[in-house]
Amino acid sequence: MIDYKNPKLILDSSNVKEGKISWQSPSNIALVKYWGKHGIQLPRNPSISLTLDEAHTKTFMSYSPKKNLDVDIDLDFYFEGQPNQAFANKIVKFLSGLSEIFPFVKQLKFKIESENSFPHSSGIASSASSMSALALCLCTLESDLFGTLKDDKEFRRKASYISRLGSGSACRSVYAHAGLWGTSGSIKDSSDLYAIPYQDEIHKIFKTFHDDILIVSQGEKAVSSRAGHALMDGNDYAAPRYKQANQRLHRLLAAMKSGDLETFGNITENEALTLHALMMTSNPAYILMKPNSLEMINRIRNFRADTGHPIYFTLDAGPNIHLLYPDNIYFDVKDFIQTELVPLCENGMMIPDKVGLGPLQL
Ligand code: DP6
Repeated sequence: MIDYKNPKLILDSSNVKEGKISWQSPSNIALVKYWGKHGIQLPRNPSISLTLDEAHTKTFMSYSPKKNLDVDIDLDFYFEGQPNQAFANKIVKFLSGLSEIFPFVKQLKFKIESENSFPHSSGIASSASSMSALALCLCTLESDLFGTLKDDKEFRRKASYISRLGSGSACRSVYAHAGLWGTSGSIKDSSDLYAIPYQDEIHKIFKTFHDDILIVSQGEKAVSSRAGHALMDGNDYAAPRYKQANQRLHRLLAAMKSGDLETFGNITENEALTLHALMMTSNPAYILMKPNSLEMINRIRNFRADTGHPIYFTLDAGPNIHLLYPDNIYFDVKDFIQTELVPLCENGMMIPDKVGLGPLQL
């Protein structure tokens, strides 16, 4: 079992340098959903996601020798150009929790600036992109200071592991095209501790897939993902759900390998509805979909039935609809999206996105 605790990663205090590291990291959209966790950010079932492109976070990390020895973690944090104490507190807690993996974080003063490509109020979960961008900065910092992690596979695996500790879904964002997280019997190298790349095992049609994000509501969610995961512990359907996720994953991977869009779409839509059904069967039960989420789902299904176009939906833990379709039908579906779906979006807000190449060091 991998253990990243490393007491040797301590700087010689007479020779602490300063520098700056920046990464851009994308969000991702799960097809088989991670919903339910245990221990330290360990998933109850394996999940797979497509890596997005437009929806991303840029994180700029400057560091210098720490002078203020009264604080455990010395951090100034800016979100979209403004100091943000609420986010700073979360990151301090996160960095403090990493002190056995990256002991050097306590020897440095950090200024971290972060910005999202999507509006903060769009209702898009930013934890996957922001936590993966931060994890990538920390791994590059280790690599720069200690000459470690020179192998790309090793680097990304550790970045994925660290991302997971910040937010489970973030661990899948460090790879191009698709990432798979969670131990699954027949999948080589799969692990609950980090995600693995999955771009080589999927049909090329998925590498240019569209994922247009239809913003149904920009408001803050009534129940956070963190609280939602916790409610799975008392959910009567939890055990069959975890079994189902494993079975669906295998069927989905086979469909993604062959390019079978019908099976892909069927499983993907059922996963989205199952996720929301689990929320509705939690105690207390809650509903994150809005009337327009349902209206869009109906319109997408009707359009598909009428035209035969392979256009599907998924949702994350919120009301927004992710519209999935292959690039080769873009011109056939764009009028439908503009005339039938965009008017149902809050303030007409849609974020067109596509499968992307993963994080970029800036
Ligand atoms: C519905 O990764 O946001 O998007 O680990 O508590 O940060 P934490 O949860 P988070 O949960 C995401 C759940 C999901 C499905 C998924 O991305 O697999």
